[in-house]
Amino acid sequence: MITLEGKVALITGAARGIGAAIAFKLADFGCRVTLSDIDVVGAEKTAQEIKNSGGEAAALAADVARLTQAENLIKETIDKFDKIDILVNNAGITRDNLLMRMSEAEWDAVLAVNLKGTFNCTKAVIRPMMKQRSGKIINISSIVGVIGNAGQANYAASKAGVIGLTKSVAKEVGSRNIQVNAVAPGYILTEMTKDLPESAKEAFLTVIPLQRAGHADDVANTVLFLASPLSDYITGQVLHVDGGMVM
Ligand SMILES: NC(=O)c1ccc[n+]([C@@H]2O[C@H](COP(=O)([O-])OP(=O)(O)OC[C@H]3O[C@@H](n4cnc5c(N)ncnc54)[C@H](O)[C@@H]3O)[C@@H](O)[C@H]2O)c1
Repeated sequence: MITLEGKVALITGAARGIGAAIAFKLADFGCRVTLSDIDVVGAEKTAQEIKNSGGEAAALAADVARLTQAENLIKETIDKFDKIDILVNNAGITRDNLLMRMSEAEWDAVLAVNLKGTFNCTKAVIRPMMKQRSGKIINISSIVGVIGNAGQANYAASKAGVIGLTKSVAKEVGSRNIQVNAVAPGYILTEMTKDLPESAKEAFLTVIPLQRAGHADDVANTVLFLASPLSDYITGQVLHVDGGMVM
């Protein structure tokens, strides 16, 4: 049976959506969880729901795009729970536009949160994990980072960058018993995708062999596996959670 009893996880962007589902899932399996977000009210609400169902959770405000805030986040998690075993880099944003119309601000914002945010939190956590000679880092990428997507050059570049970062860090810290993997979700029903045009939603369904959109819980189940000892011999990998859309 999978258990995360005695483990401590930090999940970024955990106020809602996939991050909240991951926090709930890890807590369900006995993990103490820190939920961080720029939306601290949302993170506190989700943390309270976890506590109401018997879990141990804390909420912290942090903008992952700022290195000093990422460093504080790791420090405060360790101050609160004495250590950190699992980091889930989940915070992410979109600013979609065709490249010819894309502003520098749209490019910079997406790269700052999705790619630099993952770098910032990983850099801040790596020393404590190396010291304890164990750790799991799970980066939420996207299938768009693997196959590209018209109108999402910034987002696709950031998510492809996350995959390169994942593989490089996996090679750097493997000798310290730290596993670094990425999850590439496909079309998942959350706030991020709710405003897609109906035509785009229908088009997705025609290319998904399992013939349905994914749920945040589908991603959370995969993160649970990667956070657990069941994945101890897996590192530098990208697990697609997309109903078979990209093979
Ligand atoms: N929904 C999908 O179909 C899908 C597909 C592939 C990948 N993803 C990825 O999954 C992750 C979660 O997406 P979601 O669908 O739950 O989105 P969401 O918009 O519902 O949630 C994202 C969360 O990140 C937080 N956030 C944004 N900027 C932040 C920052 N600078 N610092 C800290 N927190 C910040 C938001 O406040 C929000 O709570 C993202 O990385 C996203 O790119 C989603």
